[in-house]
Amino acid sequence: MNLHEPKEIILRAIEAFNRRVLVVSSDFQILAIRGQAEDVQESDVIGQKCYKILYCRNSPCDACPTLEVGRKRQPTLSPGYHPTSYRGQVPCLYSYPILNGDQIEAFVVLDFDFPALDALEEKLQRTNAFLSNLIHSAVDCVIAADNNGKILIFNDSAAELFGYSVKEALNSLNIRDLYPDDNARQVMRKLRNQEYGGKGKLKTYHTDVLAKNGERIPISLYASIIYENNREVATIGFFHDLRDRLQISAELEKTQLQLLQSEKMASLGKLAAGVAHQINNPLGGITLYAKLALEEYELEEGVREDLGRILKDAERCRDTVKELLEFTRQTRHLMRPHDINEVISRTLFLLENQSLFQNIEIEKRFGDSLPAVQADIQQLNHLFMNIILNAAQAMDGKGKLTIETLKVSAKEQIGIEISDTGPGIAEKDIPRIFEPFYTTKEEGKGTGLGLSLAYGIVENHGGLITVHNRSDGGAAFNIVLPIANGEKKGDHGAEN
Ligand SMILES: Nc1ncnc2c1ncn2[C@@H]1O[C@H](COP(=O)(O)OP(=O)(O)OP(=O)(O)O)[C@@H](O)[C@H]1O
Ligand SMILES: [Mg+2]
Repeated sequence: MNLHEPKEIILRAIEAFNRRVLVVSSDFQILAIRGQAEDVQESDVIGQKCYKILYCRNSPCDACPTLEVGRKRQPTLSPGYHPTSYRGQVPCLYSYPILNGDQIEAFVVLDFDFPALDALEEKLQRTNAFLSNLIHSAVDCVIAADNNGKILIFNDSAAELFGYSVKEALNSLNIRDLYPDDNARQVMRKLRNQEYGGKGKLKTYHTDVLAKNGERIPISLYASIIYENNREVATIGFFHDLRDRLQISAELEKTQLQLLQSEKMASLGKLAAGVAHQINNPLGGITLYAKLALEEYELEEGVREDLGRILKDAERCRDTVKELLEFTRQTRHLMRPHDINEVISRTLFLLENQSLFQNIEIEKRFGDSLPAVQADIQQLNHLFMNIILNAAQAMDGKGKLTIETLKVSAKEQIGIEISDTGPGIAEKDIPRIFEPFYTTKEEGKGTGLGLSLAYGIVENHGGLITVHNRSDGGAAFNIVLPIANGEKKGDHGAEN
């Protein structure tokens, strides 16, 4: 062979290619073949249909590259099959037309492995593994679903939040099962709407999802629709559990309210303490001069009686001032054992002389020798003040207030019931009256903070406060407070 002949060189080059080179007509007849399987004679295959001889089929292959070349009139690269391709290499078919002017005379199909793709494939695999790792170890839940709602991605955080295993979710769940009511449809509607972050996007949308155990969980959702050629093919969502955040903000709100209320009480206390000090001085003068006058020998009996009355009233004033100063003492959260009967008596002492209480009969049914409760005295004062004031306001200054204290049998608790003969609380209001700012009073008359503060105080002391309407119509508030530690095994006896 003359290797200087270019045609010879081309032929040798084709031989050396060592993979199949096939030339077929537009009706799939083999016109020429090189590098076919060894047990097939070239003469046996020429003129035969390629799909029959090479792939044992009765019709052209589904992904036949020559069809594509015929359609596009351009070379194409398509996936191939080769039994000797080794792992990591990608078998390919490269096809191109042999043109005669505008006419396609035949198709050439080169069969080869594409080793250059090997590295790419490995890189792709590594990238895919990295992405899958990223999704699965994300702190937020990542869930993707196809157009029918079938779950395609369900990461570990999603499994933890919803309580389904990843396998269970991928095999038998529909995205709609993860939402209560028709929330899934609403999410889709918003996703397709421009207004919630652009078409196909939804940003920081707060809604509820449904866990396997039926629990509704508040979440914040970032979601988007995945499009392929402008067609919706899937959706992907990032779900952030809001339970912790909501709990923290509820606690913050509660603390702020308590702060507000205690600020209110503190400034009232300062005012009262200032007034008390102002009264103390002239009161000292009145007492002193009344005593001096009484020491005069020649006093008429009537005058002596009058002076005695002045002294008695001045002493009452002094007691009130003392109580007021005690009540407003600016101590904060000092937990000490206290006799509950004394605490309530002190609050009543301050209230009962006010005009609102003039026509209210007060019955104290105090248990004897009750064990002390561990409490902050100032907070207890606020607690009883709020409840007793509410009762007096509800009775509009006329009726009976009953306060009962007792040791709860078999429990290390003190029970206190404060009941009135007012109109009671409408059934519909009962679940709401401990809520902050809930008031039925007209604007300016009540802030609705009294009972929410009372609830917070009882809770802080490890107790419980409940309310019910009595059979005769009035309201009754029941409070239980734990007994102080050192008192539990004491021999205070009298259990009521
Ligand atoms: N003893 C009671 N009888 C009937 N209703 C009551 C009684 N105690 C409380 N309520 C109802 O509960 C609501 C909430 O009470 P709360 O003490 O929290 O607020 P308020 O008394 O309205 O306002 P504030 O205490 O801030 O002045 C009241 O508005 C009232 O409707
Ligand atoms: Mg009130």
